[in-house]
Amino acid sequence: MSEIKKHWYKEMSVYQIWPRSFCDGNGDGIGDLDGIMSKLDYIKSIGVDVIWFSPLYPSPNADYGYDISDYRNISPDYGNTEQFKVLIDEAHKRGLKIIMDLVVNHTSDEHEWFKQGRADKNSKYHNYYFWREGKGKNPPNNWKSVFEGGAWEYDKDLNEYYLHVFAKKQPDLNMDNPEVRQEVKDIMKYWLDMGVDGFREDVITYISKREGLPNGIPLPVGAGIEHYTNGPHVYEYLKEFKDEVLSKYDCFTVGEAPMMTPKVAKEYITEGDSQVLNLMFHSQHMEADSFLTDWIHVPFSLKKMKKAFSTWQKEMYGTAWNALYIENHDHPRAIDRFGSLKYHKQSAKMLATMYICQSGTPFIYQGQEIGMTNATFNDVNEFKDVLTFNNQRLFKKLGVSDKKFLSMANRCSREQSRTPMQWNSSENGGFTTGTPWFKVNDNYKDINVESQENDPDSVLNFYRKLLKFRKENEIVIYGDYKEHYKSSSDLFVYERNLDGKRMLVICSFTEKPVRFTAPEGFDLEKGRLVLQNYDVIYNSNVFMTKPFEMRVYMFD
Ligand code: NOJ
Repeated sequence: MSEIKKHWYKEMSVYQIWPRSFCDGNGDGIGDLDGIMSKLDYIKSIGVDVIWFSPLYPSPNADYGYDISDYRNISPDYGNTEQFKVLIDEAHKRGLKIIMDLVVNHTSDEHEWFKQGRADKNSKYHNYYFWREGKGKNPPNNWKSVFEGGAWEYDKDLNEYYLHVFAKKQPDLNMDNPEVRQEVKDIMKYWLDMGVDGFREDVITYISKREGLPNGIPLPVGAGIEHYTNGPHVYEYLKEFKDEVLSKYDCFTVGEAPMMTPKVAKEYITEGDSQVLNLMFHSQHMEADSFLTDWIHVPFSLKKMKKAFSTWQKEMYGTAWNALYIENHDHPRAIDRFGSLKYHKQSAKMLATMYICQSGTPFIYQGQEIGMTNATFNDVNEFKDVLTFNNQRLFKKLGVSDKKFLSMANRCSREQSRTPMQWNSSENGGFTTGTPWFKVNDNYKDINVESQENDPDSVLNFYRKLLKFRKENEIVIYGDYKEHYKSSSDLFVYERNLDGKRMLVICSFTEKPVRFTAPEGFDLEKGRLVLQNYDVIYNSNVFMTKPFEMRVYMFD
């Protein structure tokens, strides 16, 4: 056995639910807790161990739940706290843990704290946020929001501006205020005491802003970001949360960290006393077909993707732990980006294998397990999200026509991952008996859970097999990682090693046949083919790959 420390969070895999689009239990067109409850056995059957809920709290939905108006409640759209307690219980009975989204960089402007701080400058809640006077007729600095124009919103009555690095309905919390940190700790305790098993911490590396809020590099979007990404006190505040709350529970945390590098991540997640988070989500591999944002699309580069994955594999191994994902609610679907619609099934299986067989904790986003794909929207007004509309405004300024923008949104919008879950071939894909709040992908008759349940060769059954395989083979969890074929633009090949056992993962990212030769030291004729997405008649050491082929060999 290697020196890697074993832990349950390393062995688990996680299923992410974006509640609004998962399953509607009461026919109002919006996903809810009753719907989720009815699918717990299904979730368990995939082979995951944890459910991460994107925000379930009350919210005016300016950013679909990431603008919270009450941290100690469940949105009436989804149900109530009593139902949630039953859900936790039922999940636990099935051996499933629950993690909540903790969104504390900002609240909703409809949160009581913000309302009171806005109504009265002398209220203690005024200092829960960043209220500042302008500079002459201008805002306090040149920061730009990630979502909506300037990062400052003027309040006439107060003659002050408040800071919002996301939408203007998402004012930033002033984490330098110890009372705010106390609130965060109390919120954590509240949910942990209720029985949840941890948190996914939203943009957690943004919670400390540079003192004096200085001007940033004047970018059109996100100016000032260098003053609030990994700001001066992030580590200190996370340490406080850990020491005073998290360390008292057997719980788990994963921090979302835009623009994270392995070097900085290690400051937070290196194992030992100084560790303040278990894992971190970075997005470097998600930039393999984009530049800075999904909205600036560039041709997919497998080399770029491999470099990101392999660097993190190498850097974390033995000292920290990776969070592995290829989809979530902030990106379009992976098959459209990195696979092929023509070879839908093959590429879905290949992509799953490519990331789940690496070292780390895998996250699977709802619908990914059946290979859901991007929908075709016929009108920009069918979209719903603040980010899509912000981009519409920005690209219009740059002269992009409405028609062109629609095709960009169809490819790049994060809303592509938010279309309702496709359960069966009945109306609305079985998501609701009412009118769905958001467009259901037209392909629900072909891609849905029910039809895949009955097909042993389906993407869904492949995910089950793959997760079972991971669970039953320590090498997939704890083995080390070495990449082969580094310079190939078509093949992603790596080996894992543990206690004399070896595993070889071969993934083709092209429909073209590519000549594969087993790396030195591997004799495929002597290996066991344990996972594949095509029939293999003979395990030859040299073969031509089939479209989006994948194979996993084990050498005992
Ligand atoms: C990251 C979340 O994943 C995203 O959906 C949200 O819009 C922003 N943080 C703001 O909370």
